[in-house]
Amino acid sequence: MDSESGTKTTIFEGRRALVIGGTGGIGRAVALGLAERGALVGVHGGFSRERLEGTLQAIAKAGGKGIGFLCPVEETGAAERVLAHFPEPDILVCSWGPFRQGALEDLDGEFWQKITLGNLVFPGTIISLAIRGMMKKNYGRILLFGGTNTDTIRGFTTTAAYSAAKTALGVVAKSAARTGAKQGVTCNVICPGLTDTEYLDETARSYNRERSPCGRALETADIACTALGILENPGINGAVVSVDQGVVL
Ligand SMILES: NC(=O)c1ccc[n+]([C@@H]2O[C@H](COP(=O)([O-])OP(=O)(O)OC[C@H]3O[C@@H](n4cnc5c(N)ncnc54)[C@H](OP(=O)(O)O)[C@@H]3O)[C@@H](O)[C@H]2O)c1
Repeated sequence: MDSESGTKTTIFEGRRALVIGGTGGIGRAVALGLAERGALVGVHGGFSRERLEGTLQAIAKAGGKGIGFLCPVEETGAAERVLAHFPEPDILVCSWGPFRQGALEDLDGEFWQKITLGNLVFPGTIISLAIRGMMKKNYGRILLFGGTNTDTIRGFTTTAAYSAAKTALGVVAKSAARTGAKQGVTCNVICPGLTDTEYLDETARSYNRERSPCGRALETADIACTALGILENPGINGAVVSVDQGVVL
């Protein structure tokens, strides 16, 4: 809503927005916000038809338009399959990002491959496949999600693979920003802090509460409002933005 006039904002009217991991967590909140602002939203989910249908119903209830599909990302070639379901997006949000911990000295090749496939190879590939179409249309918005504390190079003892892939997204975003800026394409990264989602059990929620500087974990809406602001603003390009209450893990 436009707070001054009280009228509905339709800034993304006529735009096609693809949200990877749009059926749950942060991605769901962003998908809903895009639909409320007039975009036709391609809602991608992994495995749960129930969550997919629930999200499409929520979009319809808010007066928006959505098309949904499930496409688990488990091997290379997934980016092509996802775009076959929802081609030529004007807006691309890659929310899904698998999180797994393990001591650096215990990680094997399979672990590194799985984590980097979901958090770096897939987002990088789908950007390469989608950015040319955006540049042709002289409009594009790409938003990626980093991890907590991955806005710059740091060392991690239990999340080396995840955090390395997430930190590298900053390079991907800055490269896409340089590639597409003249044709109206922006690409940015949000690094969320500890955020409660429906995927967390009580142990994880209480960890989030205890570690959060404000005494409460972030909610998906806290992240989504920043995501929508970045997507609306052509002046933000190549940025890595932390939304984390200043947490230091
Ligand atoms: N939550 C946090 O505290 C936090 C903190 C820092 C960074 N982040 C980052 O923020 C982003 C969003 O995180 P999130 O916690 O909201 O949720 P998430 O678990 O990363 O994403 C959930 C979405 O991804 C889909 N999905 C699950 N497995 C999949 C697979 N193998 N292939 C394709 N899609 C799959 C889910 O569908 P189904 O429900 O059908 O499985 C759902 O739509 C991620 O990149 C994450 O790394 C999160």
